Amino acid sequence: MTSEGKEILFYNITSLLRIASSKTRKLKDEMKDLEEIQNAYLVVKEGRIAALGMMSQAPRLSQFPESVNCKDRLVLPGFVDSHTHLLYVGNRADEFEMRSQGKSYEEIAQAGGGIKKSVGQTKNCSEDQLVWETFPRLQEMLSHGTTTVEIKSGYGLSLDSELKMLRAIRRLKERSPLEIHATFLGAHDIPRGISRKAYIDEVTQKMIPQVAKERLAEFCDIFCDRGYFSPEETRTIALAAREKGLTIKIHANELGNTGGAEIACEVGAVSADHLLFLENPQMDALKRSQVVCTLLPGTSFFLRMPYASVRRLIDEGITVALATDSNPGSCTATSMPLIQNIAITQMGMHPSESLVASTLHGAAALGIEDRVGSITVGKDADLVVTVPMQEYREIAYRLGQNPCWRVYKHGKLVFENPAGLR
Ligand code: NIG
Ligand code: FE
Repeated sequence: MTSEGKEILFYNITSLLRIASSKTRKLKDEMKDLEEIQNAYLVVKEGRIAALGMMSQAPRLSQFPESVNCKDRLVLPGFVDSHTHLLYVGNRADEFEMRSQGKSYEEIAQAGGGIKKSVGQTKNCSEDQLVWETFPRLQEMLSHGTTTVEIKSGYGLSLDSELKMLRAIRRLKERSPLEIHATFLGAHDIPRGISRKAYIDEVTQKMIPQVAKERLAEFCDIFCDRGYFSPEETRTIALAAREKGLTIKIHANELGNTGGAEIACEVGAVSADHLLFLENPQMDALKRSQVVCTLLPGTSFFLRMPYASVRRLIDEGITVALATDSNPGSCTATSMPLIQNIAITQMGMHPSESLVASTLHGAAALGIEDRVGSITVGKDADLVVTVPMQEYREIAYRLGQNPCWRVYKHGKLVFENPAGLR
Protein backbone atom coordinates (compact mmCIF):
# COMPACT_ATOMS: atom_id res chain seq x y z
CA MET A 1 0.00 0.00 0.00
CA THR A 2 1.23 3.47 -0.79
CA SER A 3 1.58 6.07 1.90
CA GLU A 4 -0.19 9.38 1.56
CA GLY A 5 2.88 11.60 1.24
CA LYS A 6 4.60 9.60 -1.47
CA GLU A 7 4.91 10.77 -5.06
CA ILE A 8 3.46 8.36 -7.60
CA LEU A 9 3.73 8.34 -11.35
CA PHE A 10 0.94 6.70 -13.33
CA TYR A 11 2.31 6.14 -16.82
CA ASN A 12 1.31 4.68 -20.20
CA ILE A 13 -2.32 5.45 -19.35
CA THR A 14 -4.31 4.32 -22.38
CA SER A 15 -6.93 6.96 -21.64
CA LEU A 16 -6.95 9.55 -18.88
CA LEU A 17 -10.56 10.65 -18.37
CA ARG A 18 -10.15 14.03 -16.74
CA ILE A 19 -13.92 14.74 -16.78
CA ALA A 20 -13.10 18.43 -16.39
CA SER A 21 -9.96 20.53 -16.58
CA SER A 22 -11.33 23.63 -14.91
CA LYS A 23 -15.09 23.83 -14.71
CA THR A 24 -16.97 22.69 -11.68
CA ARG A 25 -20.17 21.88 -13.57
CA LYS A 26 -20.77 20.81 -17.16
CA LEU A 27 -24.00 21.68 -18.87
CA LYS A 28 -25.77 20.37 -21.97
CA ASP A 29 -23.28 19.12 -24.60
CA GLU A 30 -20.32 19.82 -22.32
CA MET A 31 -21.32 16.62 -20.52
CA LYS A 32 -20.29 14.64 -23.57
CA ASP A 33 -16.70 15.92 -23.40
CA LEU A 34 -14.66 13.91 -20.89
CA GLU A 35 -11.51 15.94 -21.66
CA GLU A 36 -9.71 12.73 -22.38
CA ILE A 37 -5.97 12.44 -22.95
CA GLN A 38 -4.84 9.28 -24.72
CA ASN A 39 -1.46 7.79 -23.84
CA ALA A 40 -1.10 9.97 -20.78
CA TYR A 41 0.76 10.28 -17.50
CA LEU A 42 -0.37 11.56 -14.12
CA VAL A 43 1.66 12.57 -11.07
CA VAL A 44 0.25 12.43 -7.55
CA LYS A 45 1.99 14.27 -4.74
CA GLU A 46 0.92 14.52 -1.10
CA GLY A 47 -2.49 13.15 -1.89
CA ARG A 48 -3.23 15.64 -4.66
CA ILE A 49 -3.02 15.70 -8.42
CA ALA A 50 0.27 17.42 -9.16
CA ALA A 51 0.78 17.12 -12.93
CA LEU A 52 -0.58 15.37 -16.00
CA GLY A 53 -0.17 15.34 -19.74
CA MET A 54 0.87 13.30 -22.74
CA MET A 55 3.38 10.47 -22.34
CA SER A 56 5.75 12.26 -24.73
CA GLN A 57 6.13 14.91 -22.00
CA ALA A 58 6.20 12.58 -19.00
CA PRO A 59 8.91 12.98 -16.34
CA ARG A 60 11.47 10.18 -15.95
CA LEU A 61 10.29 7.04 -14.20
CA SER A 62 13.46 6.87 -12.12
CA GLN A 63 12.54 10.12 -10.33
CA PHE A 64 9.62 8.42 -8.58
CA PRO A 65 9.69 6.13 -5.55
CA GLU A 66 6.57 4.49 -6.95
CA SER A 67 5.13 4.09 -10.44
CA VAL A 68 2.12 2.30 -11.89
CA ASN A 69 2.04 1.04 -15.47
CA CYS A 70 -1.46 1.79 -16.80
CA LYS A 71 -1.04 0.31 -20.27
CA ASP A 72 -4.43 -0.89 -21.54
CA ARG A 73 -6.13 0.76 -18.58
CA LEU A 74 -8.13 3.92 -18.06
CA VAL A 75 -7.71 6.35 -15.18
CA LEU A 76 -10.68 8.41 -14.01
CA PRO A 77 -11.86 10.20 -10.86
CA GLY A 78 -13.34 8.10 -8.07
CA PHE A 79 -17.13 8.09 -8.07
CA VAL A 80 -19.07 10.37 -5.74
CA ASP A 81 -22.24 8.65 -4.53
CA SER A 82 -24.14 11.65 -3.18
CA HIS A 83 -27.38 9.99 -2.01
CA THR A 84 -27.48 6.84 0.12
CA HIS A 85 -29.26 5.37 3.12
CA LEU A 86 -26.42 2.91 3.61
CA LEU A 87 -26.67 2.73 7.40
CA TYR A 88 -29.18 0.03 8.35
CA VAL A 89 -29.45 -3.39 9.93
CA GLY A 90 -31.22 -6.48 8.66
CA ASN A 91 -32.96 -6.45 5.33
CA ARG A 92 -36.33 -6.09 3.61
CA ALA A 93 -36.05 -9.04 1.24
CA ASP A 94 -39.66 -9.96 2.11
CA GLU A 95 -40.81 -6.73 0.44
CA PHE A 96 -38.64 -7.50 -2.57
CA GLU A 97 -40.55 -10.76 -2.92
CA MET A 98 -43.93 -9.01 -2.37
CA ARG A 99 -43.18 -6.58 -5.21
CA SER A 100 -42.31 -9.49 -7.48
CA GLN A 101 -45.88 -10.65 -6.81
CA GLY A 102 -47.38 -7.30 -7.82
CA LYS A 103 -47.52 -5.21 -4.60
CA SER A 104 -46.26 -1.63 -4.94
CA TYR A 105 -43.77 0.23 -2.73
CA GLU A 106 -46.55 2.49 -1.43
CA GLU A 107 -48.92 -0.42 -0.69
CA ILE A 108 -46.22 -2.19 1.30
CA ALA A 109 -45.47 1.02 3.23
CA GLN A 110 -49.16 1.58 4.01
CA ALA A 111 -49.37 -1.97 5.37
CA GLY A 112 -46.65 -1.17 7.93
CA GLY A 113 -43.59 -2.27 5.92
CA GLY A 114 -41.25 0.11 4.15
CA ILE A 115 -39.38 2.77 6.10
CA LYS A 116 -41.34 1.87 9.28
CA LYS A 117 -39.94 -1.65 9.21
CA SER A 118 -36.37 -0.33 9.07
CA VAL A 119 -37.22 2.11 11.87
CA GLY A 120 -38.25 -0.82 14.09
CA GLN A 121 -35.04 -2.70 13.26
CA THR A 122 -32.93 0.40 13.99
CA LYS A 123 -34.64 1.05 17.30
CA ASN A 124 -33.79 -2.42 18.54
CA CYS A 125 -30.13 -2.47 17.58
CA SER A 126 -26.98 -1.00 19.07
CA GLU A 127 -24.74 1.66 17.58
CA ASP A 128 -22.07 -1.05 17.24
CA GLN A 129 -24.36 -3.27 15.21
CA LEU A 130 -25.13 -0.40 12.81
CA VAL A 131 -21.40 0.09 12.32
CA TRP A 132 -20.55 -3.60 11.70
CA GLU A 133 -23.47 -4.23 9.37
CA THR A 134 -22.77 -1.13 7.31
CA PHE A 135 -19.00 -1.41 7.03
CA PRO A 136 -19.00 -4.28 4.48
CA ARG A 137 -21.37 -2.30 2.26
CA LEU A 138 -18.92 0.61 2.34
CA GLN A 139 -16.14 -1.77 1.29
CA GLU A 140 -18.35 -3.00 -1.52
CA MET A 141 -18.81 0.59 -2.69
CA LEU A 142 -15.11 1.29 -2.50
CA SER A 143 -14.33 -1.82 -4.53
CA HIS A 144 -16.60 -0.48 -7.30
CA GLY A 145 -14.76 2.82 -7.42
CA THR A 146 -16.70 5.06 -5.03
CA THR A 147 -14.30 7.27 -3.07
CA THR A 148 -16.81 9.72 -1.56
CA VAL A 149 -20.23 8.86 -0.20
CA GLU A 150 -23.10 10.60 1.52
CA ILE A 151 -25.00 8.64 4.20
CA LYS A 152 -28.34 9.67 5.68
CA SER A 153 -29.93 8.94 9.01
CA GLY A 154 -33.72 8.61 8.84
CA TYR A 155 -34.45 5.14 10.19
CA GLY A 156 -34.42 6.51 13.73
CA LEU A 157 -37.32 8.99 13.85
CA SER A 158 -36.75 9.72 17.53
CA LEU A 159 -34.09 11.91 19.09
CA ASP A 160 -32.15 8.96 20.54
CA SER A 161 -32.36 6.74 17.54
CA GLU A 162 -31.46 9.49 15.04
CA LEU A 163 -28.46 10.47 17.17
CA LYS A 164 -27.46 6.79 17.39
CA MET A 165 -27.46 6.62 13.59
CA LEU A 166 -25.45 9.82 13.16
CA ARG A 167 -22.91 8.73 15.76
CA ALA A 168 -22.54 5.41 13.96
CA ILE A 169 -21.88 7.36 10.73
CA ARG A 170 -19.24 9.36 12.58
CA ARG A 171 -17.55 6.11 13.65
CA LEU A 172 -17.61 4.84 10.07
CA LYS A 173 -15.84 8.04 9.02
CA GLU A 174 -12.97 7.14 11.33
CA ARG A 175 -12.86 3.52 10.18
CA SER A 176 -13.33 3.69 6.42
CA PRO A 177 -10.95 5.04 3.79
CA LEU A 178 -13.99 6.46 2.02
CA GLU A 179 -14.81 10.12 2.54
CA ILE A 180 -18.21 10.16 4.23
CA HIS A 181 -20.65 13.09 4.40
CA ALA A 182 -23.50 12.79 6.90
CA THR A 183 -27.08 13.91 6.37
CA PHE A 184 -29.77 14.23 9.03
CA LEU A 185 -33.04 12.79 7.65
CA GLY A 186 -35.27 12.91 10.72
CA ALA A 187 -38.06 13.97 8.33
CA HIS A 188 -38.09 10.64 6.48
CA ASP A 189 -41.51 9.59 7.81
CA ILE A 190 -43.85 10.34 10.71
CA PRO A 191 -43.43 7.61 13.35
CA ARG A 192 -46.43 5.82 14.81
CA GLY A 193 -48.13 7.16 17.95
CA ILE A 194 -47.36 10.87 17.52
CA SER A 195 -49.22 13.63 15.69
CA ARG A 196 -47.67 15.25 12.61
CA LYS A 197 -47.43 18.57 14.39
CA ALA A 198 -45.78 17.09 17.49
CA TYR A 199 -43.26 15.17 15.39
CA ILE A 200 -42.36 18.19 13.26
CA ASP A 201 -41.87 20.22 16.46
CA GLU A 202 -39.61 17.45 17.75
CA VAL A 203 -37.56 17.55 14.53
CA THR A 204 -37.23 21.33 14.44
CA GLN A 205 -36.91 22.09 18.16
CA LYS A 206 -35.00 19.10 19.53
CA MET A 207 -33.34 17.04 16.83
CA ILE A 208 -31.96 19.76 14.53
CA PRO A 209 -30.46 21.83 17.39
CA GLN A 210 -28.81 18.73 18.89
CA VAL A 211 -27.46 17.50 15.54
CA ALA A 212 -26.04 20.96 14.89
CA LYS A 213 -24.59 21.24 18.40
CA GLU A 214 -22.75 17.93 18.13
CA ARG A 215 -21.82 18.68 14.49
CA LEU A 216 -23.18 15.29 13.50
CA ALA A 217 -24.35 16.25 10.01
CA GLU A 218 -23.60 18.74 7.24
CA PHE A 219 -26.92 18.30 5.45
CA CYS A 220 -30.59 18.06 6.35
CA ASP A 221 -32.81 16.11 3.97
CA ILE A 222 -36.62 15.97 3.94
CA PHE A 223 -38.87 13.44 2.21
CA CYS A 224 -41.37 15.81 0.57
CA ASP A 225 -43.92 13.55 -1.04
CA ARG A 226 -47.40 12.05 -1.00
CA GLY A 227 -47.94 10.26 2.31
CA TYR A 228 -44.80 11.83 3.86
CA PHE A 229 -44.11 15.59 4.34
CA SER A 230 -46.12 18.32 2.58
CA PRO A 231 -44.35 21.26 0.90
CA GLU A 232 -45.37 23.54 3.80
CA GLU A 233 -44.02 21.10 6.39
CA THR A 234 -40.87 20.69 4.31
CA ARG A 235 -40.37 24.45 4.23
CA THR A 236 -40.73 24.70 8.04
CA ILE A 237 -38.15 21.96 8.61
CA ALA A 238 -35.77 23.27 5.95
CA LEU A 239 -35.78 26.78 7.40
CA ALA A 240 -35.12 25.48 10.91
CA ALA A 241 -32.19 23.42 9.61
CA ARG A 242 -30.79 26.25 7.54
CA GLU A 243 -30.85 28.51 10.55
CA LYS A 244 -28.63 26.00 12.36
CA GLY A 245 -26.15 25.97 9.49
CA LEU A 246 -27.21 22.77 7.77
CA THR A 247 -27.36 22.63 3.98
CA ILE A 248 -30.65 21.39 2.55
CA LYS A 249 -31.32 18.38 0.33
CA ILE A 250 -34.83 17.31 -0.65
CA HIS A 251 -36.29 13.92 -1.61
CA ALA A 252 -38.58 15.39 -4.26
CA ASN A 253 -41.19 14.17 -6.74
CA GLU A 254 -40.45 10.47 -6.20
CA LEU A 255 -44.06 9.31 -5.81
CA GLY A 256 -45.86 12.16 -7.59
CA ASN A 257 -45.61 15.79 -8.66
CA THR A 258 -46.02 16.89 -5.06
CA GLY A 259 -44.19 20.21 -4.69
CA GLY A 260 -40.74 19.04 -3.59
CA ALA A 261 -38.88 20.44 -6.60
CA GLU A 262 -40.30 23.94 -6.10
CA ILE A 263 -39.50 23.91 -2.38
CA ALA A 264 -35.93 22.79 -3.12
CA CYS A 265 -35.50 25.84 -5.36
CA GLU A 266 -37.20 28.16 -2.89
CA VAL A 267 -35.05 27.19 0.11
CA GLY A 268 -31.81 27.06 -1.91
CA ALA A 269 -31.26 23.32 -1.51
CA VAL A 270 -27.95 22.00 -2.81
CA SER A 271 -29.84 19.14 -4.48
CA ALA A 272 -33.29 17.81 -5.27
CA ASP A 273 -33.27 14.05 -5.57
CA HIS A 274 -35.34 11.39 -7.42
CA LEU A 275 -37.51 13.71 -9.61
CA LEU A 276 -39.51 11.02 -11.40
CA PHE A 277 -42.50 13.31 -11.87
CA LEU A 278 -41.65 16.73 -13.30
CA GLU A 279 -43.73 18.99 -15.50
CA ASN A 280 -42.96 22.32 -17.18
CA PRO A 281 -43.27 24.63 -14.13
CA GLN A 282 -40.92 22.43 -12.08
CA MET A 283 -38.45 22.22 -14.97
CA ASP A 284 -38.53 26.01 -15.24
CA ALA A 285 -37.96 26.51 -11.52
CA LEU A 286 -35.02 24.08 -11.55
CA LYS A 287 -33.55 25.75 -14.59
CA ARG A 288 -33.52 29.12 -12.86
CA SER A 289 -31.83 27.67 -9.76
CA GLN A 290 -28.44 26.21 -8.88
CA VAL A 291 -30.04 23.04 -7.47
CA VAL A 292 -28.31 19.82 -8.58
CA CYS A 293 -30.86 17.25 -9.79
CA THR A 294 -29.74 13.90 -8.44
CA LEU A 295 -31.29 10.99 -10.30
CA LEU A 296 -31.50 7.53 -8.78
CA PRO A 297 -32.41 5.18 -11.64
CA GLY A 298 -31.53 2.10 -9.56
CA THR A 299 -34.64 2.87 -7.48
CA SER A 300 -36.93 3.03 -10.53
CA PHE A 301 -35.43 -0.26 -11.67
CA PHE A 302 -35.77 -1.95 -8.27
CA LEU A 303 -39.34 -0.72 -7.69
CA ARG A 304 -40.53 -0.98 -11.30
CA MET A 305 -41.34 2.74 -11.32
CA PRO A 306 -41.03 5.28 -14.15
CA TYR A 307 -37.63 6.84 -14.84
CA ALA A 308 -36.76 10.53 -14.52
CA SER A 309 -36.70 12.52 -17.80
CA VAL A 310 -32.96 12.87 -17.90
CA ARG A 311 -32.83 13.98 -21.54
CA ARG A 312 -35.07 16.93 -20.83
CA LEU A 313 -33.14 17.93 -17.72
CA ILE A 314 -29.79 17.88 -19.49
CA ASP A 315 -31.09 19.54 -22.64
CA GLU A 316 -32.58 22.36 -20.53
CA GLY A 317 -29.11 23.03 -19.08
CA ILE A 318 -29.85 21.64 -15.60
CA THR A 319 -27.02 20.02 -13.58
CA VAL A 320 -27.68 16.28 -13.32
CA ALA A 321 -25.96 13.88 -10.90
CA LEU A 322 -26.38 10.12 -10.49
CA ALA A 323 -26.34 8.20 -7.20
CA THR A 324 -27.28 4.74 -5.93
CA ASP A 325 -29.86 5.62 -3.20
CA SER A 326 -28.48 2.44 -1.60
CA ASN A 327 -31.01 1.37 1.07
CA PRO A 328 -32.78 -1.77 2.27
CA GLY A 329 -36.15 -1.00 0.69
CA SER A 330 -36.10 0.77 -2.64
CA CYS A 331 -32.64 -0.05 -4.08
CA THR A 332 -29.86 -2.17 -2.57
CA ALA A 333 -27.24 -1.31 -5.22
CA THR A 334 -23.80 -0.20 -4.08
CA SER A 335 -22.10 0.00 -7.49
CA MET A 336 -22.02 3.28 -9.41
CA PRO A 337 -21.07 1.55 -12.71
CA LEU A 338 -24.25 -0.53 -12.36
CA ILE A 339 -26.27 2.68 -11.86
CA GLN A 340 -24.58 4.15 -14.94
CA ASN A 341 -25.63 1.12 -16.96
CA ILE A 342 -29.26 1.56 -15.85
CA ALA A 343 -29.09 5.30 -16.59
CA ILE A 344 -27.83 4.59 -20.11
CA THR A 345 -30.05 1.64 -21.00
CA GLN A 346 -33.27 2.74 -19.30
CA MET A 347 -33.15 6.57 -19.26
CA GLY A 348 -31.23 7.25 -22.46
CA MET A 349 -28.23 8.92 -20.90
CA HIS A 350 -25.08 9.03 -23.01
CA PRO A 351 -22.22 6.97 -21.47
CA SER A 352 -20.04 10.08 -21.17
CA GLU A 353 -22.85 12.01 -19.46
CA SER A 354 -23.23 9.17 -16.97
CA LEU A 355 -19.56 9.55 -15.98
CA VAL A 356 -19.80 13.32 -15.46
CA ALA A 357 -22.98 12.77 -13.42
CA SER A 358 -21.22 10.15 -11.25
CA THR A 359 -18.13 12.22 -10.51
CA LEU A 360 -18.12 16.02 -10.91
CA HIS A 361 -21.85 16.48 -10.47
CA GLY A 362 -22.00 14.07 -7.53
CA ALA A 363 -19.40 16.34 -5.96
CA ALA A 364 -21.56 19.39 -6.81
CA ALA A 365 -24.49 17.70 -5.02
CA LEU A 366 -22.27 17.70 -1.91
CA GLY A 367 -20.83 21.18 -2.48
CA ILE A 368 -17.28 19.85 -2.88
CA GLU A 369 -16.84 20.18 -6.64
CA ASP A 370 -13.86 22.50 -6.25
CA ARG A 371 -11.92 19.71 -4.48
CA VAL A 372 -13.08 16.36 -5.93
CA GLY A 373 -14.86 14.89 -8.96
CA SER A 374 -12.36 15.52 -11.75
CA ILE A 375 -8.71 15.01 -12.59
CA THR A 376 -7.58 18.58 -12.29
CA VAL A 377 -4.24 19.77 -10.90
CA GLY A 378 -4.66 20.63 -7.21
CA LYS A 379 -7.70 18.44 -6.63
CA ASP A 380 -7.60 15.40 -4.36
CA ALA A 381 -6.06 12.32 -5.95
CA ASP A 382 -9.19 10.17 -5.74
CA LEU A 383 -8.66 7.80 -8.62
CA VAL A 384 -9.87 4.64 -10.28
CA VAL A 385 -7.48 2.63 -12.45
CA THR A 386 -9.57 0.20 -14.48
CA VAL A 387 -9.14 -3.44 -15.32
CA PRO A 388 -7.75 -3.87 -18.84
CA MET A 389 -9.93 -1.95 -21.32
CA GLN A 390 -9.50 0.54 -24.14
CA GLU A 391 -12.23 3.14 -23.88
CA TYR A 392 -14.65 4.85 -21.52
CA ARG A 393 -17.77 3.22 -22.94
CA GLU A 394 -16.65 -0.13 -21.56
CA ILE A 395 -17.01 1.04 -17.95
CA ALA A 396 -20.82 0.93 -17.85
CA TYR A 397 -21.19 -1.49 -20.75
CA ARG A 398 -19.90 -4.44 -18.68
CA LEU A 399 -23.21 -5.01 -16.90
CA GLY A 400 -22.79 -6.01 -13.27
CA GLN A 401 -19.01 -6.45 -13.61
CA ASN A 402 -16.43 -4.54 -11.67
CA PRO A 403 -14.44 -2.22 -13.96
CA CYS A 404 -12.01 -1.25 -11.15
CA TRP A 405 -8.54 -2.66 -10.76
CA ARG A 406 -7.20 -0.16 -8.21
CA VAL A 407 -8.85 2.59 -6.21
CA TYR A 408 -6.88 5.45 -4.63
CA LYS A 409 -8.17 7.91 -2.04
CA HIS A 410 -6.02 11.02 -1.42
CA GLY A 411 -3.27 9.30 -3.34
CA LYS A 412 -3.38 6.23 -1.13
CA LEU A 413 -4.09 2.76 -2.52
CA VAL A 414 -7.25 1.63 -0.73
CA PHE A 415 -8.48 -1.24 -2.89
CA GLU A 416 -6.95 -3.70 -5.32
CA ASN A 417 -9.03 -6.15 -7.33
CA PRO A 418 -7.19 -9.43 -8.01
CA ALA A 419 -9.36 -9.84 -11.11
CA GLY A 420 -7.76 -6.69 -12.53
CA LEU A 421 -4.33 -8.25 -12.96
CA ARG A 422 -3.29 -9.45 -16.37
O1 NIG B 1 -34.95 7.23 -1.39
N1 NIG B 1 -37.78 7.97 -0.47
C1 NIG B 1 -37.40 7.81 0.65
N2 NIG B 1 -36.40 7.11 1.06
C2 NIG B 1 -35.79 6.04 0.36
C3 NIG B 1 -36.43 4.76 0.64
C4 NIG B 1 -36.04 4.27 1.92
C5 NIG B 1 -36.67 2.97 2.27
O2 NIG B 1 -37.58 2.47 1.59
O3 NIG B 1 -36.16 2.46 3.25
C6 NIG B 1 -35.68 6.32 -1.10
O4 NIG B 1 -36.26 5.65 -1.94
FE1 FE C 1 -33.38 8.21 -0.87
